[in-house]
Amino acid sequence: MKIGVIMGGISTEREVSLQTGQEMINHLDRTRYEVVPIVIDQRADVITLVQQADIDLALLALHGQYGEDGTVQGALETLGVPYTGSGVLASSLCMNKQLSKMLLKAGGVHTPAGLYWQGMDDYDPQAVELLGYPVIVKPNTGGSSIGIQIVHSEKELLPAVQEACRLGQDILIEPYIKGTELTCSIVDGEVFPIIGIRAVHSEWFDYKAKYENGEAEEKVIELPPIIEQRVREAALASYQLLQCKVYARVDMILRQDIPYVLEVNTLPGMTANSLLPKSAAAAGLSFTQLLDRIISSSLH
Ligand code: DAL
Ligand code: MG
Repeated sequence: MKIGVIMGGISTEREVSLQTGQEMINHLDRTRYEVVPIVIDQRADVITLVQQADIDLALLALHGQYGEDGTVQGALETLGVPYTGSGVLASSLCMNKQLSKMLLKAGGVHTPAGLYWQGMDDYDPQAVELLGYPVIVKPNTGGSSIGIQIVHSEKELLPAVQEACRLGQDILIEPYIKGTELTCSIVDGEVFPIIGIRAVHSEWFDYKAKYENGEAEEKVIELPPIIEQRVREAALASYQLLQCKVYARVDMILRQDIPYVLEVNTLPGMTANSLLPKSAAAAGLSFTQLLDRIISSSLH
């Protein structure tokens, strides 16, 4: 089978995507697959390069906009090329944190309260005051924590909002929930061991903590069985409510035994420092076996 690893792209997460793609290329079983790297530099590249490569399956290593958000998935559907992971709808929904949160809330999953601003015109420090500092300001459709800032007081609010708006037009402001950061990977309906995250030098799990060696402790967390069950149920419910398929990673914060779902990642990072391969390893799957599972599940 000829597999095209689609990587790069034009989002703020291009560098992460290149690392994910390279890691996939390094671990794909060459006795089973012929592997073609497909590096995307412009939006229209996907269509031309995929057609030229004549592949049986697109293994998606893209992150962020024009890649993880349903656009590339739609192009591949139109071309009739099978691809890994979730379909168009789940990909778009999960890329939009505000819409995801609305659906999660409607489905009974805990998620932090949030203010949604469509740009600087919506700037309203009083509403943030009511939410209560510290808050976390995020681009609504970003990834890898790029543009995310913790804001402790009103004087820090304006520059944080301006920076987040610069990276995307719309932003989300949530109360900063102090608790334990957890992540739950789901592959083919199976919830892998839950990983607990502790940033070593940063206040929270920011870009540096995510991708630099030694900046975060990420290990399988031991939770009381009833809490573990609650976390697993919240992860699965989120995955199902947002109509994910094949695999995803659900990020949460556990505070006072309640898991608050922050977001669902439909194309989670698979770099050497990423969480999904770590939780797969804890479930007994090598990176190569994880890719086999993702590929076979995507083809069913
Ligand atoms: N958005 C990054 C790649 C992640 O969720 O792992
Ligand atoms: Mg994300």
